[in-house]
Amino acid sequence: MKFPLIGVSQAMNKVRELVEHVSDTGLNIIVTGESGVGKEVVAQNLYYKSPRNGKPFVKVNCAALPEGLLESELFGYEKGAFTGAEKKRRGKFELADKGVLFLDEIGDMPFSLQSKLLHVLQSGEFAPLGSETERKSDTWIIAATNHDLEQDIKTKSFREDLFYRLNIIKIHLPPLRERPEDVSVLVSHYIKIYSNQYNAGKFDMPDSKIMAKFIAYHWPGNVRELQNVLKRYMVIRDWDEILRALPTMEEAPVVMSSQPKSAGQLQPDPSDTIVNTGIQNLPELYSSDFSAFSLKKIRKKALDQVEAKAITHVLTHTGWNRSKAAKILRVSYKTLLNKITELNISPPSDSVL
Ligand SMILES: Nc1ncnc2c1ncn2[C@@H]1O[C@H](COP(=O)(O)OP(=O)(O)OP(=O)(O)O)[C@@H](O)[C@H]1O
Ligand SMILES: [Mg+2]
Repeated sequence: MKFPLIGVSQAMNKVRELVEHVSDTGLNIIVTGESGVGKEVVAQNLYYKSPRNGKPFVKVNCAALPEGLLESELFGYEKGAFTGAEKKRRGKFELADKGVLFLDEIGDMPFSLQSKLLHVLQSGEFAPLGSETERKSDTWIIAATNHDLEQDIKTKSFREDLFYRLNIIKIHLPPLRERPEDVSVLVSHYIKIYSNQYNAGKFDMPDSKIMAKFIAYHWPGNVRELQNVLKRYMVIRDWDEILRALPTMEEAPVVMSSQPKSAGQLQPDPSDTIVNTGIQNLPELYSSDFSAFSLKKIRKKALDQVEAKAITHVLTHTGWNRSKAAKILRVSYKTLLNKITELNISPPSDSVL
């Protein structure tokens, strides 16, 4: 596989299973998740596993172009369709014939163009600009976004009818901080790749203390950020220096997928603020905008935090003897191990396990 989907978490296993199940269905798919989480890798995996492998895989970034250009990029145009159209040009729908059209950042597609896309999805036909004749479209649409489209529907920036057309199969990729088990495998994977790529020669692998810090980190930029950190290491060769260069380890703002477009780029997750620093520290934005609030999330975070404290207390008491700790806590040994991983509980750096 050219772009393997690395990860050992349950969430990644589910994603891989879903990719297997849907790759030969040709059903419209939407891949969601924060920036850098692997949406494009999932789209490529779907393509490679599908019967369309070998046919074109055409990507359009719907956020990169202004409306008029995006329209001609998608549908193409005839000679003379507009001033400057000196010869005809094929659009991405035509170029992706029999293959895949990957509509990246679909949440940023201008509203009026969304209805034209809807028309193609409904009729299976499109017309280049300046042409009267519609052409058959045989492309598999895979879309991706880091927006919460349901929220965008409420704020009238995304068409509900288009959403239901696209959202036949949804593959959601959780952020890296919600699947800490994946951090160390991704680190090993990319260290191997980069050490070859950058002719790195001999270097130190991160030890368990450094890895524990990586696991505890927020990764607001997800896997892409992790890659950048490792690339930096290839140059700097000093893990302590690398960790120091992540100054916002604890309070790094989270890029929220449920964030309304107007809210700017970085706002802390309100459930993090409520649980960690108290409701009085919520940014002003959240006195009027409750779109990112979720009682379920708040409850889970609060519960996790209290459980982590109790487990750490008992583990310290037993000198990190996990079977003794499981007995005290009245849970099975396996449950305790799962909790330790899930809640990122790590022993103090001087303890010997
Ligand atoms: N599970 C994974 N296994 C291996 N590599 C991954 C994984 N997830 C992400 N990556 C790598 O991380 C980088 C970012 O992934 P990708 O471009 O797919 O993210 P994205 O969700 O499309 O981000 P954006 O919203 O910013 O476009 C890529 O180099 C990709 O190969
Ligand atoms: Mg992407």
